[in-house]
Amino acid sequence: MEDVNPRIAGHYDELAELWDDIVASPSRERLLWETFEGLLPDLEGKRVLDAGCGSGFYAARYVERGAEVTGIDLSADMLERAREQVPDAEFVQADLTQPLDFLDDDGIDVICCQHAFSHLEDLSVPLSEFARVLVDGGVLVVSTHNPVHDYVVVREGEYPTETMPGDMEATVETESATPVYDETERYDIVWNSGPDSNRATYYRRSIEGLFSPVLDAGFEIRDVVEPTPDEAFTRENPEIAAGFKQDAAKSVCLKAVR
Ligand SMILES: C[S@@+](CC[C@H](N)C(=O)[O-])C[C@H]1O[C@@H](n2cnc3c(N)ncnc32)[C@H](O)[C@@H]1O
Repeated sequence: MEDVNPRIAGHYDELAELWDDIVASPSRERLLWETFEGLLPDLEGKRVLDAGCGSGFYAARYVERGAEVTGIDLSADMLERAREQVPDAEFVQADLTQPLDFLDDDGIDVICCQHAFSHLEDLSVPLSEFARVLVDGGVLVVSTHNPVHDYVVVREGEYPTETMPGDMEATVETESATPVYDETERYDIVWNSGPDSNRATYYRRSIEGLFSPVLDAGFEIRDVVEPTPDEAFTRENPEIAAGFKQDAAKSVCLKAVR
């Protein structure tokens, strides 16, 4: 099987400089972050693992809330940005598809995992590692691609780019001409703003394909929220809100307890 990680890491290495602008966009900041933040427990004095931490944009917020943060990511350039931006956190280059041997059993109180699941074909390894490293009663908060939205992206072959900065355009390439809803399927997005490495690999999965591995790893799901625009957001960002009206929510957030 092809190792897709070098391509994913290369894609994020290229985006590392731009990443803070991407996450500061209204749909990320006002819809995704506000929803995600609403699911977080009090972080004061908590040991937080930021899994797939990217540029450290959110690790900084966990530190501000009094957490002791360890961030892990595949991308060396994202980690470099994170170390510059959040000197009070620890950052480790690690692969979520492999055992996280450098983390002790029961050594983490809260795991935050924002938009990394869609790069992982098999969720069982990271989730069993999350269950191992979390204390009893520890909290896992995840945001990821919404399975319904992803299914439409793959079926229609179009990725909405209104949340991306500048003129980034996306071409969707799928393995099969006809997506099968209940299978986990790989798709690639080729971004036009960079050289060859600017191709990223994603996996779309069904609703069951997302939630069953969480339950199988021994978690109890406590909340599920699909971020959608409220009235104020719609007034301030009519174009983005119109996209949300036509499509399914782009993301889904869940809170689970070990
Ligand atoms: C969409 S970005 C999200 C970054 C950050 N969580 C945020 O929301 O700003 C996905 C991140 O997951 C990381 N990633 C993808 N696959 C990974 C893997 N197998 N192990 C560790 N990190 C991975 C990427 O390098 C990238 O930084």
